[in-house]
Amino acid sequence: MEIPYIVRRMTLEDLPEVMEIEKVSFKRPWPLSAYHYELTRNDCGYYLVVRLREKGKEGPLLAYGGFWLVVDEAHICTLAVKPEWRGKGLGELILYSLIELALRLGAEIASLEVRVSNRVAQNLYRKYGFEEVGKRKGYYSDGEDALIMTAFDINSQEYRALLAKNRESLERKLKGRRPWWNWRVFMRR
Ligand SMILES: CC(C)(COP(=O)(O)OP(=O)(O)OC[C@H]1O[C@@H](n2cnc3c(N)ncnc32)[C@H](O)[C@@H]1OP(=O)(O)O)[C@@H](O)C(=O)NCCC(=O)NCCS
Repeated sequence: MEIPYIVRRMTLEDLPEVMEIEKVSFKRPWPLSAYHYELTRNDCGYYLVVRLREKGKEGPLLAYGGFWLVVDEAHICTLAVKPEWRGKGLGELILYSLIELALRLGAEIASLEVRVSNRVAQNLYRKYGFEEVGKRKGYYSDGEDALIMTAFDINSQEYRALLAKNRESLERKLKGRRPWWNWRVFMRR
């Protein structure tokens, strides 16, 4: 069966393409040095990328995301899809993969901040059980507030059922072609 997308750990070689997406996705993009630090120095940072697979080889980088794992909480710190590839399920594929990896690493809770104006991302997070638990006033450097969203008890049977249901519909959205994950490699640091 053809594997259209590869999900794997982000490496330093991915950074030029990550930065291209970062710059057009965020008002205050992280600098290259921040990603470099995250990949080489931050022991609690986990970052994934989605690449297109073409003729058995890795093609362009389409999406990425990451979280910091602190004790039992996975705090999602970044997530973006290449603009022309949005609306095809890749944001969901990255979020699903981050949560699945966090679970395998023992997380019980997932949390994040999102701009109050970013309804698209909020919809995605709600679909994955994130609830609004508070607001950080003026959290972003341009003064916008952040919503704090949390998915509680992600290791529960109830949450795993939600993940399984979302995965089924995600695979339909990805045109029935299963992406490829290698969890054992993801977990190695
Ligand atoms: C937010 C983002 C990652 C979503 O990725 P995407 O690939 O476009 O989204 P998907 O196709 O996977 O859609 C997943 C869900 O997101 C929501 N969504 C996606 N596009 C939407 C739109 N145009 N309007 C409303 N909700 C939308 C829906 O809940 C959708 O689920 P559904 O198809 O069952 O309705 C993407 O828009 C992006 O990179 N934005 C810029 C960076 C950013 O804002 N990152 C989040 C920072 S907190």
